[in-house]
Amino acid sequence: MKKTIISLALICMLLSAFVNPVQAAGQTLRAREDNSFRILIVADTQDTEKPRQLMLDLLNAELDAADVDLVVLLGDNIYGPYIGDDKDKAESAIRAVIDPIVERNLPFVICFGNHDDENCISKEEQIAIYKSYPGCLNEDPDISGVGNTCLPLCAADSDEAKILLWLIDSGTYAEKEIGGFGYVKEDQIDWFKEGVADYNAKGAPTSYVFQHIAVPQAYQLLSPAKPFEKGAFSGLFNPFSKWYKPNADKISAGGFEETPGSPRIDSGEFSAWKDCGVKAAFFGHDHVNDFVGTVDGIDLIATSGIGFYAYGKGDEHGARMLVLHTDSPEEYETEMVYYKDLFDKPISPFALSRIGIPTFIVVVSVFAGLILLITIIVVIIKKRGRTQ
Ligand SMILES: [Fe+2]
Repeated sequence: MKKTIISLALICMLLSAFVNPVQAAGQTLRAREDNSFRILIVADTQDTEKPRQLMLDLLNAELDAADVDLVVLLGDNIYGPYIGDDKDKAESAIRAVIDPIVERNLPFVICFGNHDDENCISKEEQIAIYKSYPGCLNEDPDISGVGNTCLPLCAADSDEAKILLWLIDSGTYAEKEIGGFGYVKEDQIDWFKEGVADYNAKGAPTSYVFQHIAVPQAYQLLSPAKPFEKGAFSGLFNPFSKWYKPNADKISAGGFEETPGSPRIDSGEFSAWKDCGVKAAFFGHDHVNDFVGTVDGIDLIATSGIGFYAYGKGDEHGARMLVLHTDSPEEYETEMVYYKDLFDKPISPFALSRIGIPTFIVVVSVFAGLILLITIIVVIIKKRGRTQ
């Protein structure tokens, strides 16, 4: 009997070594003994059922370097339009991104972006795949969007929430009459405000928000600029759009290479954040932006993309580290960890892509096209010369 009890105790000890404390506590996160909590924010993995090895290598290296308690996937986790009408392929694309996280026994939570469901598989079906993993902490309350989630974070020795992490589905595209990208809906904002009020009754925790698309207030980090002015930029694929330059007084780290793909309307989300004690909000979507700036006391923070199928930031593809502290919830540290920080090897020009085609192939094709055009013109001119 004694032997059986000892064996059972040993099995329990062994099992507990493999169960992350976050999972053991259900949906409530718990800080480390020193009250820190480490998050790796990964944006725009954005690939297909045959993901680029470079994205997987970078994701694995980020996970190995990070020593984290939670991974946040910030949307465009797969590249819907390039997967096509095959649900199995969409599922394979999702599992390719999640496998490196699960292999390390790390809990994770996801947001959806504008590209995830641009195919045959709905966000409802996709969240079911994510939730098939025990480490997935997503909820899905009955409000607009899919996978909206609130995760309370407690200190190591207390069950009182000190920090709230909000994962919001920022939508895909706005209605035709509005145009542009999606926005957070009124019922989502109400859900957020009610959730904060509930927790405030129990101790007023500080909130941090994670969503794919930046709020329009991100433009307050910018000043108007003349086209092609030094340090200025426009929409990445639209040089005819308005030009801006960063407002150095409001930006403390990182920068912009494109205008934020924010919604054209302000749905009131930022105003709710101001009323509800949001300290910082984290966005993906704009693959070449990694700014840290402050608007009306709220830090707005972009994470450059990690994926190589779509456009990106060269050797500044990467992920963002975020360290929170339950003993000082208003203080945090964050920094981008880039490809160049983790790998000595330069990225092959075949791997760099801006539109789903390696840049090198685009350049060679354009060059070959020009030579062909010049040859045709020369031949036509010579022929005309002979006939005259
Ligand atoms: Fe994206």
